[in-house]
Amino acid sequence: RSYEYIETSEPRPGVGQVTLNRPKALNALCTPLITELNQALLEYQKSDSVSVVVLTGSQKAFAAGADIKEMQPLTFAEAYTNSFIESWSDLTTQIKKPIIAAVSGHALGGGCELAMMCDIIYCTETANFGQPEIKLGTVPGAGGSQRLTRAIGKSKAMELILTGKFFSGADAEKWGLAARTFSTYEELMENTLKTAETIAGYSRVAVQAGKEVVNKSQDLPLRDGVEYERRVFHSLFGSQDQKIGMKAFAEKQKAEWTHK
Ligand code: HXC
Repeated sequence: RSYEYIETSEPRPGVGQVTLNRPKALNALCTPLITELNQALLEYQKSDSVSVVVLTGSQKAFAAGADIKEMQPLTFAEAYTNSFIESWSDLTTQIKKPIIAAVSGHALGGGCELAMMCDIIYCTETANFGQPEIKLGTVPGAGGSQRLTRAIGKSKAMELILTGKFFSGADAEKWGLAARTFSTYEELMENTLKTAETIAGYSRVAVQAGKEVVNKSQDLPLRDGVEYERRVFHSLFGSQDQKIGMKAFAEKQKAEWTHK
């Protein structure tokens, strides 16, 4: 399938990649781009050949935010009755396969929020993150105030959201928002694909369960989360791959997953 604002590829076994491709606007996230992104992600979700998704932009920009020119004329009534921005959440509600964000350059406003909706963030040391909505007379609208605060704590998140100050990829890693940083764009992409391939090499049932239980920690109190995890852990004794994985360990063999 061909898209206008994104490109898709399968660069490694089991790995699907979506590359945001609206270079003239630094990958500003207009509604048609988000619609295409949702379509591509849903196809990967259904695909038998893809286990893990990589979401990236260009070296210069992951995404410079929601499209300010599209938002400028919106009225409250239009935004409210059309649930403006709600479809962005499809990424978090529909996709059960892991998504790794590879962030280079600008990840601002909605771009930062999009990266934070992903399951893992890798970035360059010089990546430029921020929630600068305050400078436009507004606030984050795609989960930024919630996800940034959970990731780096209230005081830092409050400072960043109220000042609109940018922060580097190096800071993002130091504060725990990003999992790893790299000094060049090439290293970023190479290592992102390597991690994606590693995850794609495991049982898809276990990987989906792993994503599910970690994400539950963001929604549930500790006791409920631990109980939820234990239930999922119990349920995996019903999978073929749990038998295969433990038998392979005991027999010093390599596990051949059935994804069942
Ligand atoms: C629409 C954008 C854009 C955006 C950049 N462009 N960001 N268009 N929406 N968010 C366009 C510019 O208008 C310009 O188009 C072209 O991309 C290149 O941008 P320049 O500003 O010329 O580039 P540069 O000088 O390198 O500056 C880069 C930048 C700056 C620092 C990233 O573009 C910038 O500050 N952008 C806005 C960042 C921002 O405020 N993002 C948050 C948006 S609010 P022309 O046609 O002039 O060449 C938001 C709300 C989210 O995301 C809430 C819910 C999702």
